[in-house]
Amino acid sequence: MCGIVGYIGAKNCIPILIGGLKRLEYRGYDSAGIGILTDDSTKVIKSVGKVSVLQEKVDSLDLNANIGIGHTRWATHGVPNEINAHPHMNADGSLLLIHNGIIENYEVLKETLKHFGYEFRSETDTEVLTMLIDSFLKKGHDLLNAVRAALSEVEGTYGIAVIYKEEPDKIVVAKKGSPLVIGIGDNENYIASDVSALVAHTQQVVYLEDGEVAEVYCDKFIAKDVSDKEIEKEVKEITLKLDEISKSGYAHFMLKEIMEQPESICNAMRGRLLLGEGTSKLGGLEDYIDRIVQSKRIIISACGTSWHAGLVGEYMLEQFAEIPTEVEYASEFRYRNPLIYPDDTIIFISQSGETADTLAALKESKRKGALVIGICNVVGSSIARESSTGIYIHAGPEIGVASTKAFTAQLTVLSLLTLLIARKKRMSLVDGQNIVKEIESLPEKIEKILSLDSKIEKIADQFKDAKNFLYLGRGYNFPVALEGALKLKEISYIHAEGYPAAEMKHGPIALIDKDMPVVFLAPKDSTYDKILSNIQEVKARHGRIIAVASESDNRIDKLVDYTIKIPDTIRMLMPILTVVPLQLLAYHIAVKKGLNVDQPRNLAKSVTVE
Ligand code: M6R
Repeated sequence: MCGIVGYIGAKNCIPILIGGLKRLEYRGYDSAGIGILTDDSTKVIKSVGKVSVLQEKVDSLDLNANIGIGHTRWATHGVPNEINAHPHMNADGSLLLIHNGIIENYEVLKETLKHFGYEFRSETDTEVLTMLIDSFLKKGHDLLNAVRAALSEVEGTYGIAVIYKEEPDKIVVAKKGSPLVIGIGDNENYIASDVSALVAHTQQVVYLEDGEVAEVYCDKFIAKDVSDKEIEKEVKEITLKLDEISKSGYAHFMLKEIMEQPESICNAMRGRLLLGEGTSKLGGLEDYIDRIVQSKRIIISACGTSWHAGLVGEYMLEQFAEIPTEVEYASEFRYRNPLIYPDDTIIFISQSGETADTLAALKESKRKGALVIGICNVVGSSIARESSTGIYIHAGPEIGVASTKAFTAQLTVLSLLTLLIARKKRMSLVDGQNIVKEIESLPEKIEKILSLDSKIEKIADQFKDAKNFLYLGRGYNFPVALEGALKLKEISYIHAEGYPAAEMKHGPIALIDKDMPVVFLAPKDSTYDKILSNIQEVKARHGRIIAVASESDNRIDKLVDYTIKIPDTIRMLMPILTVVPLQLLAYHIAVKKGLNVDQPRNLAKSVTVE
């Protein structure tokens, strides 16, 4: 979603802003803009579409400035056009503002401001906030206090950065619900909504917390909390490296991230498996494990792909940890006043750690006294920081909007958690050791699946013109069917649905004819014979079938049109393998359709608005 970048120092800020915006492109956006402050004036340049379009415009102007802010906008209020793009400015152009988040009461504020003579050019909530700050400047406040006063009237979420011609030595930033990071340089400072925009310049960062504001100068920053008290902020070191956020020779980030899975899964389990004891070690949980083991119920809450990971977690935890587990969409959970008991453990799963609904559900659960565990990828993200404790999945930066390696790393971590609890309960040493060995063998098995890439590409060629797809699986592979369908729809724009295979007869079978491709997840497990019956039912209706099956299976080939054979593992880990061919299938279909795989239309990498 929207991205923020800013610079103050001795260098020309233009290449820094454009470079930062390019790093933020993966978040998803539809227009972009920069605003700069030169000796005696401000200047704003905006464009619709890619940052490269903005860059062309900016390059043709030969600009130079030592302070500036930049923004990528993902439209919420008003269509993507230059007027609605950020920065927004006050009437005389002395005040420039960029904003991530949503001002919920903007209509009321706008009406009041109109009453006082303010005129609006855009349809955005952000312009309202700009004018509100301006109204406090006109009352004699300095920039910091005008920002604070305006924000005290605002309902909603924001990460903002503001520059003002009359106070040209600073950028004022504030945060509530949208991430905001200050990057510390040598006599220069940066601001961003995401550390990936800073990593080319500095490894030293300061995360603002909700309610905090800061004045960022070139040689210092002053942060204040809600009560206007100056606060000492901890400077943190980011471990992110520039090459981790580049394509490293791959055509797309998504392909790179699919191919990285043997390594990302190794990173998720590194140092966490204890073969001798047949268990796992999760440092963050050590102080909480007794309470977790005694939980009467586990609730997992998340969105999108992370929610699918939660569904697999439900199967794992109920089967082995023997704790009743429920999985909730965070967006529903947060609003329905859920019943939460003191002996519940609530797990929030989020790749980005910034998803607005997941974060809000977490805060509500904490408020109700639950033990809250975050499973996140992005270190230092809001969900990671707000959780009582947590487990990082260590998948490394995921830039492609379609989540791939984060999903398999989430499942790996959920298997470690399951093992840890199960061994504290009734699981035997031998069974625990067997699971450890199986987890350790996953990277090699994924390598084998990835070597089928060109075969899967050929299958994709046969299906790229399909209008619909059905994905069917049972048990642990039902959530994988959902995930396979999500991958296909988000990057290829082909309508796809995932179902538990047995549900097919209760409706979706009506859709099956020669034009309906059906992907079956059919590894040899206890549901195999039942899946074969479902395959027969589709075949009898001339559906075209792709099956993901076990290497050892030589019955299935004659029943289906295409098979993708994968190595065997125990049932609880099977989703970590079966999902990989589905990721590749979706990827190749989207590429063959000529679509923008890494930045699909309308989607954002991290959904920071409700
Ligand atoms: O960062 P999160 O894991 O919280 O994101 C949740 C969803 O927005 C995300 O998984 C989304 O569904 C992806 N585009 C899936 O590929």
